[in-house]
Amino acid sequence: MTSITVYLNTVSETAKFGHILARLALPGDVICLSGDLGAGKTTLTQQLARGLEVPESCYVTSPSFSIMQEYPGRIPLYHFDFYRLSDETEVEDLGFEEFFYHSGLSVIEWSERAGSLIPDTRLLLKMTIENESARRVEIDFGNGSWEERLRSYLPPMI
Ligand SMILES: Nc1ncnc2c1ncn2[C@@H]1O[C@H](COP(=O)(O)OP(=O)(O)OP(=O)(O)O)[C@@H](O)[C@H]1O
Ligand SMILES: [Mg+2]
Repeated sequence: MTSITVYLNTVSETAKFGHILARLALPGDVICLSGDLGAGKTTLTQQLARGLEVPESCYVTSPSFSIMQEYPGRIPLYHFDFYRLSDETEVEDLGFEEFFYHSGLSVIEWSERAGSLIPDTRLLLKMTIENESARRVEIDFGNGSWEERLRSYLPPMI
């Protein structure tokens, strides 16, 4: 399993990255976002949504209370925020894992809470705060086709 680190130095670089992910997304993909409060998970998801052509009238925000929010787009976007869940049994009890196999794109904030329910083909983005405007993203490609798809957009891998 390969990983690579990229730096998103400004919100607009994060936006660009979100648009790239949206362009590459295929039905049934799962993108996991982990990282502290304020790391930029929702900001990235908002840009991904714009890239998927989710209508401007849909205000994409952390679905902390609803836990899951679906938006229409080029492919449907299933936006999850598992912050309030304690572990994978809760994710299972709420019946969310079936969405990971539907024909939309699942984007999951606090995905670590879903443990082994996450398919190992997922793209995992571990976001950390570098400073006020920059974010560090450790990209773990998983064992699906994300590495192949993203390779040409990323700096050379060492
Ligand atoms: N390069 C950057 N990329 C993303 N966000 C950035 C960047 N620089 C500054 N920010 C700011 O950091 C904040 C990120 O907040 P956001 O709600 O996206 O975090 P989050 O990871 O979803 O947090 P939570 O776990 O609370 O849901 C926003 O206010 C955003 O403007
Ligand atoms: Mg958030």
